[in-house]
Amino acid sequence: MKRIISNSTAETIRLGERFARSLKKGDFVALIGIFGAGKTYFTKGVAKGLGYKTIKCVTSPSFTLCNIYKGKRGIRLYHFDAQRLGKPAELFRLGLQEAADGIGIIEWGDKILYHLKNTPIIKVVFKVIGKNKRVISFSKRI
Ligand SMILES: Nc1ncnc2c1ncn2[C@@H]1O[C@H](COP(=O)(O)OP(=O)(O)O)[C@@H](O)[C@H]1O
Ligand SMILES: [Mg+2]
Repeated sequence: MKRIISNSTAETIRLGERFARSLKKGDFVALIGIFGAGKTYFTKGVAKGLGYKTIKCVTSPSFTLCNIYKGKRGIRLYHFDAQRLGKPAELFRLGLQEAADGIGIIEWGDKILYHLKNTPIIKVVFKVIGKNKRVISFSKRI
């Protein structure tokens, strides 16, 4: 896994933007890390990298489990948050299958990895190592 240190939210957003360039339709990304690790900031960067004019629509969905945005490259970004999921059966409420026609990105992705054994998933792991420092590891080359 490639590991990169981020020293600020701006750096995490930029990393997300850069990472987005490596993504293609059908990719599925699992964001793994504790609350406040930077998963949502990273997602903002991914949305920006895909060409979304405004990033303010990409917020951490606490109640909304699925947000869909359409970028200028014409690729849909499906943003999920599995934090509130309890039983595995609830996974299906997320509508993960729909993401196949775009790019799926899921916060608390570790909750679903086990249930998506046959789907290739790109993992991005966030570790908090300081107030503003995060180690971000990628299972895909960026
Ligand atoms: N390098 C960094 N990258 C991302 N967030 C950071 C960083 N340093 C501090 N933070 C703070 O950590 C929190 C990350 O929030 P968020 O992206 O919503 O986390 P998550 O979605 O993982 O729960 C924010 O309060 C942000 O200001
Ligand atoms: Mg979040």
